[in-house]
Amino acid sequence: MEEQLHAIREEALKALEEASTPSDLDQIKVKYLGRKGAVTRILKGLGRLPAEERPRVGKLANEVKRALEKALAARKEDLEKTAPEDRLISGFDPTLPGRRRPYGTLHPITQVMDEIASVFTRMGFSVEEGPEIELDYYNFEALNIPPDHPARDMQDTFYVDDKVLLRTHTSPIQVRTMEKRQPPLRIIAPGKVYRCDSDVTHTPMFHQVEGLMVDTDVSFADLKGVLTLFVHEIFDPETSVRFRPSFFPFTEPSAEVDIQCVMCRGRGCRVCSQTGWLEVLGAGMVHPAVFRHVGYDTEKYSGFAFGLGVERIAMLKYGIDDIRLFYENDVAFLSQF
Ligand code: FA5
Repeated sequence: MEEQLHAIREEALKALEEASTPSDLDQIKVKYLGRKGAVTRILKGLGRLPAEERPRVGKLANEVKRALEKALAARKEDLEKTAPEDRLISGFDPTLPGRRRPYGTLHPITQVMDEIASVFTRMGFSVEEGPEIELDYYNFEALNIPPDHPARDMQDTFYVDDKVLLRTHTSPIQVRTMEKRQPPLRIIAPGKVYRCDSDVTHTPMFHQVEGLMVDTDVSFADLKGVLTLFVHEIFDPETSVRFRPSFFPFTEPSAEVDIQCVMCRGRGCRVCSQTGWLEVLGAGMVHPAVFRHVGYDTEKYSGFAFGLGVERIAMLKYGIDDIRLFYENDVAFLSQF
């Protein structure tokens, strides 16, 4: 019986150590000290022991009982110290797990712009910037688009007043850069542009990346090489690129650059209107009239320029069929990138 008492004490103390709630303590109390508890049963059975053993076992049983009562009280006090009500008294519960803050990510357009910039900076281009509220002179006139030129209708302009407007493309940065720097030049100019235009492939504000390279022997072959490498880096090296004759007043000759449709791999689908090709940018050799506006020697220098729509590239890269999704601020959409 003495052995039994020692075992009970050991077991009960271990259970107390492991108890983590007041209800655990209640259960332990019932199990060992309750009316039918292990210690109580032994105390009640003392009468059945031989008289000479009774004092010794009785003493031990009472010791175990007192030890357990004491340990229970101490553990109770411990637990109460950290009971939820107590923990919150100061308004701060250090035991609760921290609240997760949702992670923000860069907007997909910013990510694609960074990626585009990184492709060109690796080719030795540096980054230039210009104002979004621009003078008519830089947006149109210096780019060989005089006031009555029909090409102004190609870009529905938001005017601030007669001479000031929201830039309709990033091409004015070409002029601003050439005004302050001499060739050789190799720059890109990413930024926001504005046009009075809105449907599934057009928004009133969108992003372009302008490119300009001027040196003594720049040819259309350089333009083709740089843009083809760009397309292969942004999409994949197997993507075919096509240069189609086009018109821009500030480049001659001009081209629009198409890539093989990334959705159908050129077989023809709804996205590419069954043509197998998708237009991604405008480009050409800088028109001598533009060089004359900035005082560059047209006999000595030649250059190419291009302007690409960032949203267009992002839509093709991620298979998005409505440009407006980029600007609805729907977190479920944005968090995919
Ligand atoms: C231009 O803006 C010329 N400045 C590009 C250029 C630069 C040509 C240098 C030659 C030399 P365009 O209007 O085509 O060209 O626009 C270029 C790209 O911007 C288009 O290919 C298209 O991807 C994108 N874009 C045009 N309008 C919108 C719009 N409203 N919303 C979204 N993307 C647009």
